[in-house]
Amino acid sequence: MSLIRVKDRDFKRSITAEQIAERIQAIAAQIVEKFKDKDPLFLVVLNGSFVFAADLLRQVNISCGVSFLKMSSYEGMSSTGAIKQLIGLNEDIAGRNVVIVEDIIDTGYTMQHLYQTLQDKNPASLSIVTLLVKPDSLRVDLHIDYSCFHIPNDFIVGYGLDYDGYGRNLPEIYTVVAEG
Ligand code: IMP
Ligand code: MG
Repeated sequence: MSLIRVKDRDFKRSITAEQIAERIQAIAAQIVEKFKDKDPLFLVVLNGSFVFAADLLRQVNISCGVSFLKMSSYEGMSSTGAIKQLIGLNEDIAGRNVVIVEDIIDTGYTMQHLYQTLQDKNPASLSIVTLLVKPDSLRVDLHIDYSCFHIPNDFIVGYGLDYDGYGRNLPEIYTVVAEG
């Protein structure tokens, strides 16, 4: 089924489960190669990254830590620009090789703020892996180490990402269909 409805909007499938799986396999191989002897700590940014992280990290078959944090700045379909606080990080990350696992980098404000907050805690290294990037929307200078897909500047849902709390459980990625 390539056309679906989430809440009050129509969405069209834009990235299939097969395409996602293929990219994750490639990215996981690169991460394994880079971090196999580095005892990395993966910090998964909730809520949106839970599906991506589950699929990615099951392929990163090396000794590593996995933990979760939260950082939310989005309501409905447009970024509020307001950056909320980092919550839920219990680990001491000083001296660790930290890898942030994110669902999507849109304006990049959320990631920039999170990156700076974590950098201030003196990790040995700090890397970014994200499922999606919207390059035309990016407003900050960010070095994104690993990304699975670059996508147009349209609102998407599925594979962990939500539209007003709905659609996270969709196994594929859908793009909003323009109204009218
Ligand atoms: P940024 O600060 O603008 O980069 O926003 C990043 C956050 O906004 C992501 O972690 C998502 O939670 C959310 N977000 C950005 N674009 C979309 C989208 O197209 N669909 C759903 N959530 C999105
Ligand atoms: Mg997110």
